[in-house]
Amino acid sequence: MPKDPDTPQRTDGPRHVAIIMDGNGRWAQARGRPRLFGHHAGAKRVREVVEACKDLGIRYLTIFAFSTENWKRTQVEVAGLMNLFRRYISKEMRALHDENVRVRFIGDRVRLDQKLITLMDDLEELTAGNDGVNLTIALNYGGRDEVARATRRLAEDVAEGKLDPLNVDEETLPRYLDTRVLPDPDLVIRTSGEARISNFLLWQSAYAEYEFIDTLWPDFSAEELARLCRSYGRRDRRFGAVKV
Ligand code: IPE
Ligand code: IPE
Ligand code: MG
Repeated sequence: MPKDPDTPQRTDGPRHVAIIMDGNGRWAQARGRPRLFGHHAGAKRVREVVEACKDLGIRYLTIFAFSTENWKRTQVEVAGLMNLFRRYISKEMRALHDENVRVRFIGDRVRLDQKLITLMDDLEELTAGNDGVNLTIALNYGGRDEVARATRRLAEDVAEGKLDPLNVDEETLPRYLDTRVLPDPDLVIRTSGEARISNFLLWQSAYAEYEFIDTLWPDFSAEELARLCRSYGRRDRRFGAVKV
């Protein structure tokens, strides 16, 4: 029987949704406002989306907040974003905890300032015992950078005799990635109309389903997420096999 497109597909829905939150700058520009205005509007969308995950049966939500390439932007925008991340964490910490959300960060922390790192640690620690939605925030994250850092750690283990190179296989590298405790994303959504992945979850998304939608991130809503989840539920994921 064909599935009714309007029925929520809880059981067939994605367990892990990853979102490239793009389009804040254009959203602001369309209103004649500075780019940072768009970033603030974008940050406000996160709460609704996290809350929607519970109803949609999404156990893991990973959001791309700042890439390893975003340092190329003006000093004003980068500083404004770092300031926004600090303010966001301080302001949302309590609410996320009260919602039973478990927060993790992925990405390289070395270029981040100590105040921000401390806030990230505090939020991870505060929510470590929560068993609700797993929210992962990718901050100074790049897929290639992550694989390079993982490879370095893997090579160190080989050099120290902890790992036999002959035993390195597809299961080995993921254990060194920032995402080691997370399942692979089932559905990757990119807002703003760009059809590229911009260095997001390269290894992990090998078999993800993609949705590139025109909505700019500050206009994204729980309804739209629900629609994309229903559409995901109607997809046929074959993983290279042929159904018999
Ligand atoms: C995404 O919005 C947020 C970050 C990359 C930090 P953009 O800032 O890339 O917005 P556009 O793509 O310029 O509209
Ligand atoms: C990707 O968006 C990074 C984030 C959403 C944080 P960008 O706006 O940086 O990507 P490009 O430059 O369009 O590829
Ligand atoms: Mg962009």
